[in-house]
Amino acid sequence: MSNTLALNGGPKAITMDQEKALQWPVLTEEDEQAVLGVMRRNETSLSDEPLKLEKEFAEYLGAKYALAEINGTSALYAALSVLGIGPGDEVICPSYTYWASAMPAATLGARVIFCEVYPDSLDLDVEDFKRKITSKTKAVIPVHLWGVPCEMDEIIAIAKDNNIAVIEDACHAHGAEYKGRKTGTLGDFGIFSFQASKNLPGGEGGMLITNNRDYLYKATTLGHYRRAAELPVEYSKYQHTCLGFKHRMSPLHAAITRVQLKTLDEKNFLRKNNIEKLLKALEELPGFHIYWPPSHIKRVYYENDIVYREEETSVSIEDLIKMLKEEGAIVRRDRYPLLHQQPYFVERGSNPEDLPVTREINERIIALPAFPGDDGSLVDQYIDAFVKVAGTF
Ligand SMILES: Cc1ncc(COP(=O)(O)O)c(C=O)c1O
Repeated sequence: MSNTLALNGGPKAITMDQEKALQWPVLTEEDEQAVLGVMRRNETSLSDEPLKLEKEFAEYLGAKYALAEINGTSALYAALSVLGIGPGDEVICPSYTYWASAMPAATLGARVIFCEVYPDSLDLDVEDFKRKITSKTKAVIPVHLWGVPCEMDEIIAIAKDNNIAVIEDACHAHGAEYKGRKTGTLGDFGIFSFQASKNLPGGEGGMLITNNRDYLYKATTLGHYRRAAELPVEYSKYQHTCLGFKHRMSPLHAAITRVQLKTLDEKNFLRKNNIEKLLKALEELPGFHIYWPPSHIKRVYYENDIVYREEETSVSIEDLIKMLKEEGAIVRRDRYPLLHQQPYFVERGSNPEDLPVTREINERIIALPAFPGDDGSLVDQYIDAFVKVAGTF
């Protein structure tokens, strides 16, 4: 391998065609047949397909109940609605997450209180969560960011002491485990997304998980019209109006999700092998901080985000990215626009200068591919690119 940077006219370290190794979702003939089956049975609206998915996904997770939803956002909205959360209530959530973690609570009229994340795991900081609790706090939303389970025992214990519901946002964490239990089954509710980029990609779709039958029935009454009629009378009395929006999942997406579920673990394993090969190499280079979770946490990889501390090298994060891109790498600054700095929340009382840890770490993250279909050769070329660039540090 030549040491001359591609930026300075040397050969690129990454020469492979990346399309196949990075293709996601991986849809096959089986997905096509599943969709065709729904169409041929003329079940594009009313179908058992979402119900079958509920059963299979609940079994996979070891959860009591699952309710298929339009998407992860609607599942979160349903969980908050079931809890009766609205004006005057507060919901605690990290600022470093996708906006859908916070917007359902805001849409219901509650105030979202943002809390810090840990600078290594990027998950909800338990101490800051505790500090942010007031008499108005009704729920906390730990987000298992990028597939790393939050410290659920501590969060649940604090929540119990303060009579706060726990809604796990597991939209990045299909198949991850905390102390031997699957994420999404630990809190009062677990929320999943099956949007096409997710580890369990159905195209669109979501799931609400709970072990509480009353919660399940209330969520069913919220927008699963025909199914509400089959519930005990205290719920079925609402069958002719339901309690709000329609939340029913599309059978076509449920059909794809069912097929994809069969290979979820296998595909998670492939990502893990590839990404961890890269991370182990990066760990040897200055500036890169790799987070290895403790043994009670079994993470999955949704995205491959890495902390780079430019002050430990002579190369700024911007220059690092420029050099890597010239080597052929697909790399970007992955900065979720911090929610507490967004106009919507600033207009509702959030202080954009809050959350110093979150703001600091957010400046130091680079995102790399998750290598979902790589046989390891592309990762090797990425390692070469990093080693070459780190030679200039
Ligand atoms: C952390 C997180 N929560 C919730 C959602 C919402 O899921 P959906 O897009 O299915 O509504 C997403 C989706 O990207 C997400 O990343």
